[in-house]
Amino acid sequence: MRVILLGAPGAGKGTQAQFICQRFGIPQISTGDMLRAAVKAGTELGLQVKEVMDNGGLVSDELIIGLIRERITQADCANGFLLDGFPRTIPQAEALVEANIEIDHVLEIAVEDEEIVGRISGRRVHPGSGRTYHLEHNPPKQEGRDDVTGDELIQREDDKEETVRKRLQVYHTQTEPLVEFYRNLSAVNGTPKCSKVEGVGSVEEITARVLQALS
Ligand code: AP5
Ligand code: ZN
Repeated sequence: MRVILLGAPGAGKGTQAQFICQRFGIPQISTGDMLRAAVKAGTELGLQVKEVMDNGGLVSDELIIGLIRERITQADCANGFLLDGFPRTIPQAEALVEANIEIDHVLEIAVEDEEIVGRISGRRVHPGSGRTYHLEHNPPKQEGRDDVTGDELIQREDDKEETVRKRLQVYHTQTEPLVEFYRNLSAVNGTPKCSKVEGVGSVEEITARVLQALS
């Protein structure tokens, strides 16, 4: 199964992606995680994208499309994949169509902007795996430590309130039009199936809604 998760920054894409991937046995492909790993490793790609990411802007379509093309041809994607954070612009979505990469399901997780600002300020992540926690809504078992490895959790560079507001604005102008794009594509081709779930509630409640929509 090939799935695209759409949703604003902080909507819970990464949080729900883990459950979907476990259930369907597909890899999670998060362009944000891939870029953060490159920044952390100090690769040429990382140096190129760090400033844009820290400011809440979007990395160039060309660069991201190249990254995705390479990733989805790897062996673990043979039975499908989940895209988290891609596509994010109309040209990125068009690149998938042009490459004849058919998507089965586009799932939107909908959350209001004001809820998001609170969520992101409480977010802590495990940089090694991308595992995500929230100080109140989804705390780690041991304060400040990853449940699996015990490593220290960090706050993302782009999680300052001002940057979050910028990312939300970018989402509404550049990414939200993809909902309409995929509805139109679906009307013409019969795929992908497009669904929307309300993203406010406990993590478990949202997982149940998401899995129901995908089943
Ligand atoms: P990316 O990493 O994709 O960030 P994003 O889309 O802004 O999304 P987030 O990761 O912030 O949110 P999420 O929806 O995954 O929420 P999470 O599950 O963590 O991209 C980062 C940057 O990379 C971009 O700004 C851009 O520069 C660049 N980039 C990436 N892809 C690109 C592309 N395709 N093109 C161009 N540039 C690209 O949840 C958030 C918090 O809420 C957590 O603390 C979580 O524990 C908590 N939470 C989750 N669910 C709930 C719930 N139900 N109730 C309460 N709290 C909850
Ligand atoms: Zn994420």
